[in-house]
Amino acid sequence: MSQSYPNDVLIVDVSPRDGLQNESETVPTAVKQALIEDLIAAGIKKLEATSFVSPKWVPQMGDNGELLTALAPTRQADVCYSVLVPNMRGFENAVAYRPDEIVIFGSASETFSQKNINCSIDESIERFAPVAAAAKAQGIKVRGVISCTVGCPYEGEIDPSQVAYVTKRLVDIGAECIGIADTIGVGTPIKVQRALQAALHHIDVGALSGHFHDTYGQALSNTLAALQLGVREFDTSVAGLGGCPYAKGATGNVATEDVVYMLHGMGISTGIDLDKLVSAGERISNYLERSNGSSVARALINQRLD
Ligand code: HMG
Ligand code: MG
Repeated sequence: MSQSYPNDVLIVDVSPRDGLQNESETVPTAVKQALIEDLIAAGIKKLEATSFVSPKWVPQMGDNGELLTALAPTRQADVCYSVLVPNMRGFENAVAYRPDEIVIFGSASETFSQKNINCSIDESIERFAPVAAAAKAQGIKVRGVISCTVGCPYEGEIDPSQVAYVTKRLVDIGAECIGIADTIGVGTPIKVQRALQAALHHIDVGALSGHFHDTYGQALSNTLAALQLGVREFDTSVAGLGGCPYAKGATGNVATEDVVYMLHGMGISTGIDLDKLVSAGERISNYLERSNGSSVARALINQRLD
């Protein structure tokens, strides 16, 4: 059976946000800044820099404004700096720093919604609606990300109809693209395709992205399964950093290095220099004093040592 793949894919490195939000120790702003600058030097064109959530809930992101201020002098016009915003308070705090995109983040699971953002799915949409409208009025892009689209740490399997429902609600309030997240990495290719297909009832494939955590080692396979449906944008995390503070035991997103290696091997371009990317992942892994979570990075580093 012949299968067509896109010529290029957009990688969104989420490690500064999804990766570092999960560290037990808060990482200094200068280290976050160096990570972001390393990623951009490696050719990353879109990244999640930070989140404007409550510092009581996620202290690791409490330096959001400071970080964006530190990045301002070297800010690149052709790089999309994205930030998470859960409500109007977060938007008001974020807007002074002119993010290129805001991410409103909902859930396909009621219980996860309560645990993560302290409100029901429907309440979250009510909170997001003025945020999306305000962002658009200021020329800021709006992305909606849906957690637990395959499985939930509290509710187990999630029905694709829930994904369709939340996608429609987010699109209706103005989300221009939708991220389908496997928050706890329990998905397998067909289940992930079902979640994506549910979203496709309400949004074009060109506006859909995949956000796959690798807890069960399925994230690269799930990325391939999404590519086969025509998805061309993926959230990934250098060195596989991360997890979600409200999804106990969940590990990081699929490693950026592993996805880039797979894509380049398939003849799909990303604009990313894999060698520089590996160095970026090594630098932050060394800082955090942990082994690099990317298989590709470990292999390439071993080669460098030979
Ligand atoms: P809440 O306590 O229900 O909020 O939290 P509230 O409106 O009742 O306000 C309570 C206090 O928080 C008030 O302060 C507000 O001003 C303040 P007080 O009057 O008591 O001094 N507050 C804020 N402060 C700063 N920034 C804000 C903000 N909002 C209220 N934006 C809230 C609701 C959503 C804020 C809270 O639940 C929260 O911050 N949750 C954190 C969620 C989070 O960051 N989770 C991790 C990211 S999501 C993720 O990782 C999943 C993803 O990767 C996809 C996937 O893998 O699934 C995206
Ligand atoms: Mg995530």
